[in-house]
Amino acid sequence: MPVAIHVAVAANGVIGREGGLPWKLSTDLRRFKADTMGNPIVMGRKTYEGIGKPLPGRLNIVVTRDARWSAQGVETAGSLDDAITLANVRARCMSGASEIAIIGGGEIYEQAMEKADRLHVTHVLADIDGDTSFPAIDPAVWEEVRHSDHPAGEKDSHPTRHVVYRRRGSFG
Ligand SMILES: NC(=O)c1ccc[n+]([C@@H]2O[C@H](COP(=O)([O-])OP(=O)(O)OC[C@H]3O[C@@H](n4cnc5c(N)ncnc54)[C@H](OP(=O)(O)O)[C@@H]3O)[C@@H](O)[C@H]2O)c1
Repeated sequence: MPVAIHVAVAANGVIGREGGLPWKLSTDLRRFKADTMGNPIVMGRKTYEGIGKPLPGRLNIVVTRDARWSAQGVETAGSLDDAITLANVRARCMSGASEIAIIGGGEIYEQAMEKADRLHVTHVLADIDGDTSFPAIDPAVWEEVRHSDHPAGEKDSHPTRHVVYRRRGSFG
């Protein structure tokens, strides 16, 4: 099953501040929900705790080194590789699952970049203050498949450009 990173990133690389998101992007959250629905999603323990509950309609897998950590409605894995293996096993029994979605945060993205086949990136069109960043997207490694532009709606703090990238040389 292909592995896809889903991220929203500011022009200066920022993705988070004080355990949460440093913007309000309702339009993008709706797209994120539709894009990930029915698929396994993998996230770091800090991202899970920032959200505070499992995201409905998706198999939630939380990566943690703490073997005693648990939460209702989520599965846990002791490493990113274990999470991807678990997602592949579970996806066999999930009708319509099409990819493993890696949904953050910074530590998990850093490790997932070398494993991902695709990047679904919402470029937030502003520099934003924050404490967590996404790695640079190297154009020698990633090529754009498609993009769409979204002016800020009533419930959005910023305009965005959504870009899907694929790893150069892959057929996905
Ligand atoms: N803009 C976006 O699209 C987006 C998306 C998601 C999150 N975020 C933001 O990103 C920030 C959180 O990111 P973060 O980097 O602080 O934390 P994170 O990546 O969400 O979680 C880090 C935790 O994951 C576990 N972990 C990481 N690597 C591991 C490994 N190899 N094996 C086992 N466990 C591992 C550890 O949990 P334990 O400490 O329990 O061992 C670690 O403390 C928040 O501000 C959040 O809002 C932004």
